[in-house]
Amino acid sequence: MFNRRRLTQLMAAAALAPASLSAQGRPPLTRIAFGSCADQAKPQPIWDAILEYHPDLFIFAGDNVYGDFNTADATNLRRAYERAETIPGYVALRQGVDHLAVWDDHDYGINDGGGDFPHKAIAKELFLDFWKVPADDVRRTRDGIYDAQIIGPPGMRVQVILMDLRWFRSPLKPSDQRGAPGKERYVPDPDPAKTMLGPAQWDWFADQLFKPAEVRLIVSSTQVLAEGHGWERWGNFPLERQRLLDTIRRSGAKGVVLLSGDRHVGALYRETPTDHYPIYEVTSSGLNMVYWAANEPGPNRVGALYPAANFGVVDIDWWERKIVLALRDEGGTPRRSVTLGFDDLQIGRG
Ligand SMILES: [Fe+2]
Repeated sequence: MFNRRRLTQLMAAAALAPASLSAQGRPPLTRIAFGSCADQAKPQPIWDAILEYHPDLFIFAGDNVYGDFNTADATNLRRAYERAETIPGYVALRQGVDHLAVWDDHDYGINDGGGDFPHKAIAKELFLDFWKVPADDVRRTRDGIYDAQIIGPPGMRVQVILMDLRWFRSPLKPSDQRGAPGKERYVPDPDPAKTMLGPAQWDWFADQLFKPAEVRLIVSSTQVLAEGHGWERWGNFPLERQRLLDTIRRSGAKGVVLLSGDRHVGALYRETPTDHYPIYEVTSSGLNMVYWAANEPGPNRVGALYPAANFGVVDIDWWERKIVLALRDEGGTPRRSVTLGFDDLQIGRG
């Protein structure tokens, strides 16, 4: 169980109202944690380790509750959020740690769902309310829930770009051999009309990459780099996957790292596009939903899958110019990690 004294401390800290994420004079981020796939109906002991890590930012990377529903009143999703509010560690994190959130299919409301989900408007309203998005936030008036923040002083800025992989996404192409290795649910669809982000979000995303920041964390609830499996991933639409990498390359943006979830397994991935520095992806999943028998060929994977409860971390040492990307287990122990120099990601000297 969560340490009660620590919980009390965090509650007291929360009462002081943490500084706004974009506040001037805010110190640089050095300890960022993230995770996905938290079923509110099952125990969530991992919050103890996450709180002990003392992140200065936590990113909820999707499937933050499991609230699939098919009624206009979204009863199951409402109940899921209400239940999450009763989990001590989840509550302590939300009250005591600055955080950002994006949804995936199970807090969107339908397994593997996309733009044709008829109840997405109510799901969005519940999402924005649960995450306490202000009434004047642009997400209240535009389609989808995509968002971006730049945090930290000049020379030590982290940009977090949170993509919406649900609201606009075209229908996936079902597998012709459901369950077969590499074709578990879906097969790649090279149709150029198919979209992951939709036109408005694509334009917005390309613009974000020109904003000033030293490190850019691009959060995609579904995996970007992973290849070789037939579950959800950007490779379901290969042209869109390539467009994402091309958009990053053409922008000249440095310091890009991808964060993802969804899979019920954790892993690190790396791909080096032509004329580009290596792009790393940390997939952290799940906070309590894991598939211990998972298997995938993983041509781009760095090390083995980690198919037990985990959270991801991005440790930034601005002075040593190093970034550690890691997956930590339920006890907080790093299980997969890679250390990158700023030079590896072509991050300039302030
Ligand atoms: Fe998911």
